[in-house]
Parts: sequence; C-alpha cells; structure tokens
Amino acid sequence: MGTRLLGLFLRYVFPSLLVLSRSFLDIDSETLIPRVSALEKVPTYLLAATYAAAAPFLRYDPVLCVSSLSSSMAGITDMLWTMAYDAILQRLSGGEAGGLAILQTILIYLQRPMADNRPAHVDNNSASWFLVATAVQSAFKLGLHMDCRAWPGLPPWEKRLRRRLWWVVYSETIFRSLLAGNPNPIHNDQWDVAVLDDADFVIDGLQIPSEETASRVPALQEPCRFCHAGYDFLFIASLACIANQVLDTFYTYNATRRLANNFSASLAQAAPLLRLLQEWKRSLPRPRQQMRPEPIFDPERHDYFHSRSSAQLKLTFLTLHVLIYRGLLRPLAGHSGSEDAGAGTSVPRPVPGADAALKNAVELIKHTLAFVQRLGAFDCNGLFYSWSCICFSTISSFLLLLLLVQHPSSPAIARELAVVMARWPSTMRQQSALFKQLRLGLYRLDTFLLAGLETTFCFPETVRQALSDEFSPTSSYSQSFPRRNVS
Ligand SMILES: *[C@@H]1O[C@H](CO)[C@@H](O)[C@H](O)[C@H]1NC(C)=O
Ligand SMILES: *[C@@H]1O[C@H](CO)[C@@H](O)[C@H](O)[C@H]1NC(C)=O
Ligand SMILES: *[C@@H]1O[C@H](CO)[C@@H](O)[C@H](O)[C@H]1NC(C)=O
Repeated sequence: MGTRLLGLFLRYVFPSLLVLSRSFLDIDSETLIPRVSALEKVPTYLLAATYAAAAPFLRYDPVLCVSSLSSSMAGITDMLWTMAYDAILQRLSGGEAGGLAILQTILIYLQRPMADNRPAHVDNNSASWFLVATAVQSAFKLGLHMDCRAWPGLPPWEKRLRRRLWWVVYSETIFRSLLAGNPNPIHNDQWDVAVLDDADFVIDGLQIPSEETASRVPALQEPCRFCHAGYDFLFIASLACIANQVLDTFYTYNATRRLANNFSASLAQAAPLLRLLQEWKRSLPRPRQQMRPEPIFDPERHDYFHSRSSAQLKLTFLTLHVLIYRGLLRPLAGHSGSEDAGAGTSVPRPVPGADAALKNAVELIKHTLAFVQRLGAFDCNGLFYSWSCICFSTISSFLLLLLLVQHPSSPAIARELAVVMARWPSTMRQQSALFKQLRLGLYRLDTFLLAGLETTFCFPETVRQALSDEFSPTSSYSQSFPRRNVS
C-alpha cells in the first residue's frame, strides 16, 4: 500500500512539487509505483508526508480504492501529518540542519490541505511562515542556492534533486511573501541556480512514455511531459520570478512609499510587469495556453494518469494581475480618474491613463469571476498549493477595493462592478462546496456583507445607486445592504 501511495504521489503531486528523486526509488515505468525495497531507503517521516499528501488521490488507484485503507485513510492522514511535523520540530530543536530529507518533508508539509472541520478564518499563516523561513534557512545551509551542475563528486540524481529543491523553496517563498505581505527572505544577490530544464527530469535508466503514446512500440513513444519536462512546476517557477518582480516593484516598504501617491510612476512600473505576464502566457505550450477549464460534458473524458487541469496556473496568473493592478491603482483611491481633487477644487484634474487602467481592472475582475464560475470537478486535483486560498481572498478583496474604496466616478464602471459584486458572493458560496480554497475569501467577504457595506465603507452616490440597482430587495443582502428610502 505504501508503494502504491508513493505511485500516486508521483502521478498527482510530483508535477507540482518535484521534491522526490525518482531514480532513487526504483520505479516501474508504467505505473510509477516503486519496489517495496525502495521504501527502506526513505526516512519514515518523509514517507509519512508523502503518504498524507497522496491521500486525496486514493481513488485513482483501483487497488487502494477497494482496500480497507480507503475507509481508514481519513483517520490516518492526520496522524501521518503529525508524524511528519513532529520529526521536523525534533530535528530543528536539536539544532540539526536535517539534510535533504527534512527539507523535502517541510516542503510537502507546507501544502497540507485545509482540514474540513477547521473554521475558514483560522489561517495558519504564521505557523506556515515559520516553516517557510526554516526551509529557506536549511536550503542555504545545504548549499542549494549554488548551482551544483558543475560540481564533481555528486551523483547525477542528487544534482537534479538539489536544483529542483532550490526552485521549489524559491517559488514557495516568493508566493507566500507576496500573498501574505511578508518581506521576502531570499535576496536576488544570494543565489545563482539556473532555470530548470529537461536534464533536471531525467530518471536513471528509465523513460516514461506519454499517455497518448504508451501503447506504441518503444521507438515510437514520446516522453511524458509530466514526468520528463517539468510540467507543471516549470510554469509556476517562471511565474514565481515575475512574482518576485511584482513584490520588488510595488510591495516593499520603500516601493510603497515611493509609489503609493504617484500614479504616473506606478503606471510606468506596471507596464513592463504586465508585458512579462503576457509573454509568460504566450510561452506556454498549446494545451496549457487554453487555460479555460474543460467543458463538463466532454465525451472524451476519462481518468487521466496525471492531473491535467490548468486551474492552478490560471489562478496564479490572475492573482498576479490583480496584485499589479492593486499596486497601480493605489494612488487613485478615493478619487478615481483625478489627482489633487483637494478642497476648493471643484473640477478634478484628469490623470492621463487612469481611465484606461480602471477599465482594464474591471475587465480583469469580470474575467476572474468567469474563471471561478467555470471551475469544475476536473479542477479539484489541480488547485494543489495551499496558498491558493490566499489567492481567492486577494481577488475578493480587490473587487471590494475597486468598487468601494477606489470609488469609480463613472456610473458605467460603477454599474459593471456592481454586477460582478452581486454575482461574486453566490459564486463563491456555490463553488466552495467543491473548493475549500474559497472559504477564506468567502468568510472575509461575509464579514463585510453582514456588517453592511454602507456602514463599513464610505462611498459616493454613483456607487450606492449602482449597488442598489443590482441587489434586489429580495436578495439575502437587502438586509446587509439596506436600500435607502429615496423619497
Ligand atoms: C494549523 O493550526 C492547527 C489548529 O490551530 C494546528 O493543529 C496545526 O498544527 C497548524 N498547522 C501548522 C502548519 O502549524
Ligand atoms: C529605502 O529608503 C530609505 C529612506 O529613503 C533609503 O535610505 C534606502 O536606501 C532605501 N533602500 C533601498 C534599497 O533603496
Ligand atoms: C512621480 O514619479 C516621477 C518619476 O519617478 C517623478 O518624476 C515625479 O516627481 C513624482 N511625482 C511626485 C508628485 O512625487
């Protein structure tokens, strides 16, 4: 059963979290299941973490699915996570660096999914930040920040593993810093690991064929892109590099002081970042460019060998856009489209570029609503990273920010945003049945809706009118958004 769980890890988790060495595990090319003898080479705590991470995918292994494990796994998973966590604490308090195995365990533990019974607002941010900081520190201690390709003496599998581990640490750190608002602990001047390429996904003595070509004779088989070409982590890692620039450009302490009141400077900084995101999207291979979730009634639909959903890429891509626009529109808060509308100025001076930026932000938020509405069961295996919940919450706050804090002075824009605002809570409510990741965002949104938007925010008549047009008096929000007696 352990080997089968490891096989599931390699199929469904590894493409997002390439922290194990497959050469080390002696795997079978058709099933990715390792031999039993390989388990003896892996420390117990690391096995515990991999089993726990594989648990949500149990149903994709028919043997496990009918085994007694499938009913007891829910109870065992918490114990496995605790074993992994205790081992981490024990090694750290002993002052040991812990070696690669502890770092691998930490990186898997960081993606521990939210427990079903945990209240949505209990976010373990501070707890996970301690693990991120620990991961960074041990990565530096282990020398992962130095490119080891040219080093003599290391076995090839360890070189590949070290480079992959560095990139996982880097990506995890950057996204969590940006999303949680923590200073980034990895300085650009402190590392030189080149971008991952196909050579980092070699498996000694083994080539895994792609699903489409597996039934051909070996000479005509093509290598599996999830096993040998770094799908999908490679795309996340290149987004992490852009995320790092977004962080440096808009969200450091100095950048905030420099840009928060200067729209033209913010605009100049945002443009290249938006271009980088477009280039990233264009660089994706064809099946990945089509980032819409697939239609629900797809006659071709079958169980894929790997998760093929692009939901994580799309969510991360949209979240970075949102963060760029949030930084860009910051100087306009409260007086959209005009600057220096101080006391005594009756006609606000228009700011060049502000209207276009606001319109683009509205398009972005509409696009994001459509993305969340279209998420389907197919994407459940796709939203893998535990920071996805902060992405949804960031998007949700951005909508409130645009409508209720930026105060669009144009009634047309206010109306468009109000339309999205009216659909957003119900979309999140429905989709959170399938996606626990939405619960944090929904919780924060409901806090405002319950308190009443008008009592929480101070917004002008255009916005109030647009909102009361959209929220019908019979909606559940008529109470949270009281209609003003117009007479
Ligand atoms: C998250 O919080 C829960 C309960 O508050 C705790 O049991 C768990 O260990 C925490 N997770 C981490 C990563 O510390
Ligand atoms: C940040 O701002 C302070 C005060 O203006 C300045 O002294 C410091 O050099 C700035 N830091 C960077 C990295 O530019
Ligand atoms: C805004 O930034 C630009 C470019 O950095 C600078 O030239 C200008 O003086 C700044 N404006 C204000 C009001 O600080």
